[in-house]
Formats: sequence, C-alpha cells, structure tokens
Amino acid sequence: MKTQDGKLVVISGASRSGKTAWVKKALDQAPRIIAWDPEDQWAQLRGFIKCTSKKQLFDCAMRRGPQRVAYVAGGDLKAEFDFWAAIVMYAGRYVEPVDAIAEELADVTTPAKAPGNWGILIRRGLKRGISIYAISQRWSEADKTAVGNASRFVLFRQSSGDDVAYLARKTRVPLTEIEGLKPLEFVDFDALNGDIKRGKLRF
Ligand SMILES: Nc1ncnc2c1ncn2[C@@H]1O[C@H](COP(=O)(O)OP(=O)(O)OP(=O)(O)O)[C@@H](O)[C@H]1O
Ligand SMILES: [Mg+2]
Repeated sequence: MKTQDGKLVVISGASRSGKTAWVKKALDQAPRIIAWDPEDQWAQLRGFIKCTSKKQLFDCAMRRGPQRVAYVAGGDLKAEFDFWAAIVMYAGRYVEPVDAIAEELADVTTPAKAPGNWGILIRRGLKRGISIYAISQRWSEADKTAVGNASRFVLFRQSSGDDVAYLARKTRVPLTEIEGLKPLEFVDFDALNGDIKRGKLRF
C-alpha cells in the first residue's frame, strides 16, 4: 500500500545548544504545526495560536487548513502529553498532514518503551504523513522508542561525555563527530542512508 511517509527527527543537545532554533528554521514554511510547548516558547512566536486547555487544543487541531498551534499545558504533564499525542495522531490521520514538535521529552517520557499515545504516534504516525520533531537535552533519560525509530538525528553539543557516548552507541554516528561540537554546531545524520553532514546555525 502506498503511504505518505513522515519523518521522525530526533534532536539532541545541551541547553542553549540550538535545538529549538534549528526546528524553527526547519519548519519555517510548514503550513500545519502542533507543538507540545510546556515552556510557552512556540506560543509566543508570530503566527502561533496558544492553547491552554484540552478543549481549545481539540478545536484547533480538528480545523482544516494552515495553522500553527502550541499547547501550553499545566498540571499533570505526563497526562497532558498523552492527550496531545492522541490529538496529533487524530489530526494527522483524519484532518490533514501535520508537523508535530515535542519539546523536552525527558520531562514526559522515560528510557522505557514510549508510553501510551506517544508510542502510538511514533510507531504509526509516520505512515499517516505525520512528521515528528522530538527534542531533548538528554536522550539517555528520554524514551528509546523515538531513538530506535528515528529517520534523522540532529545532534548539537552535548552536556556530558555520557550523553556523547549514549548517542554514538544508539545512532552509529562516530563519537568523534559528536564530542567536538561548539554551541550552534550540529551533526545531521540521515539514519536511512547513513549520510553524515555537519552544519552551524546562523541567524
Ligand atoms: N533568532 C535568534 N537570533 C539570535 N540568536 C538566537 C536566535 N534564536 C536563538 N538564538 C540563540 O541561539 C542559542 C540556542 O538557542 P535555542 O533556544 O535553540 O537552544 P536550545 O538548544 O533549544 O536550548 P534549551 O534546551 O534550553 O531549550 C541561544 O544562545 C539563543 O540565544
Ligand atoms: Mg529549546
């Protein structure tokens, strides 16, 4: 069966290394975005609608056409994240293709198998045309399903040697490529064909 394949991009790096800025550039022209935005960053960008309740997120996500939505949840973050993932799956599958951004996954997942609706989204969302940008400062503390299913890795400067070693082991990017990075420098690894490129963010 022909499917419209999405991508799962895993983005890693220490605080202020460039993760959010890279995703912002990558999705510069994306018509439909639904972001998990607990720090209220994406919601502040021009063109984004800030949703703070489940109902508001649901109503936005069910609407057709171009729109950028940021879910700024409070309370039980893990439960809210699960709800967000279900909404993304539904919107991508039944409304229109969508790009999903998940900020700081170490706060809402663990190294165990990806939980609930997030697990469903990363295992089944891609073939429904959903592209996922999964961000964490520390993937050794975030879910391994995303790392295992990633089609692309964008690796910025890591905060510790342990993180460098973890990513080298999980991604097959040579350790030496990852350990010398300066802030805003990154390694861009295509996990499907093995290509490695280096880059630096410029504003
Ligand atoms: N539009 C911009 N112009 C100039 N500098 C920018 C711009 N956007 C981000 N930066 C700078 O780039 C660096 C990386 O920022 P970014 O928000 O991408 O970090 P991050 O890796 O997402 O960090 P965190 O894990 O804390 O969210 C910061 O020093 C930030 O001030
Ligand atoms: Mg960030």
